[in-house]
Amino acid sequence: MPSILCVANQKGGVGKTTTATCLAHALALTGRPVLVVDIDPQGNATSGMGLAAVSASAAFGSGGLEGGIGSTAWSGVWAVPAGHDLERLAIQGAPAISTLRRNLATLPADRFKVVLIDCPPSLGSLTQNALAASDSVLVPIQCEYYPLEGLVQLLAAVRQSAKSNPRLGVGGVLFTMYDPAVELSREVEAEVRTKLKDPVFRTVIPRDVAVAEAPSHCVSVLDYAPRSRGAWGYAQLASEIVKMGLVG
Ligand SMILES: Nc1ncnc2c1ncn2[C@@H]1O[C@H](COP(=O)(O)OP(=O)(O)O)[C@@H](O)[C@H]1O
Ligand SMILES: [Mg+2]
Repeated sequence: MPSILCVANQKGGVGKTTTATCLAHALALTGRPVLVVDIDPQGNATSGMGLAAVSASAAFGSGGLEGGIGSTAWSGVWAVPAGHDLERLAIQGAPAISTLRRNLATLPADRFKVVLIDCPPSLGSLTQNALAASDSVLVPIQCEYYPLEGLVQLLAAVRQSAKSNPRLGVGGVLFTMYDPAVELSREVEAEVRTKLKDPVFRTVIPRDVAVAEAPSHCVSVLDYAPRSRGAWGYAQLASEIVKMGLVG
């Protein structure tokens, strides 16, 4: 079975989608075929990888996952696009918590090495499904406000999910859009690294305009600006994740 990682944080704009997609590409470039599953009703990962949203999300359908997989122009990366039904599913508190896990289990065992799930900015039923299906959760945070309160709430939700999904662990908290020239960034980093008991990635993703520009061209920053600091950051993160054994 592939290693299943979700990228979650109930706050929007912290770099979840960027991390899910750029890390997917960076891991794919190490020779591991990766499937990105977009379960955010906003569908930013879907459009950023050059795909269109579909009417019904295969991640939560009853027809298995295979028919819902699209290929992308990103070498080694496939995607299950977001569906127009996700917003309704989220509002209704549906679907059942094990739906995504059950659908991922229908994947042929050797097709993908890694599955990366891009979560919506909420701890609602869609994110609950991701936590129930995952081996590890990656938590991007921005260093430009104090994130500890939100982090504590998210980590409590992870521990709750781990009661019914014992494989689940915190892969790591990831600092994104990091600017060492901003004093608050350095303060937040120091505070999180000292106070948090959960793992924090040594890799830090710098604020880099190339990272923000790439999605409008439907390419990852690793193709858009391979020598940029952002591309380097995600390549570093991929190798840290491989070294930690979070992916096979
Ligand atoms: N390292 C970075 N440097 C500059 N801009 C970034 C970086 N990471 C993300 N962004 C930009 O910040 C915004 C929010 O990122 P996104 O990944 O969409 O967050 P989320 O999925 O958590 O809402 C996007 O416009 C994205 O392009
Ligand atoms: Mg997003």
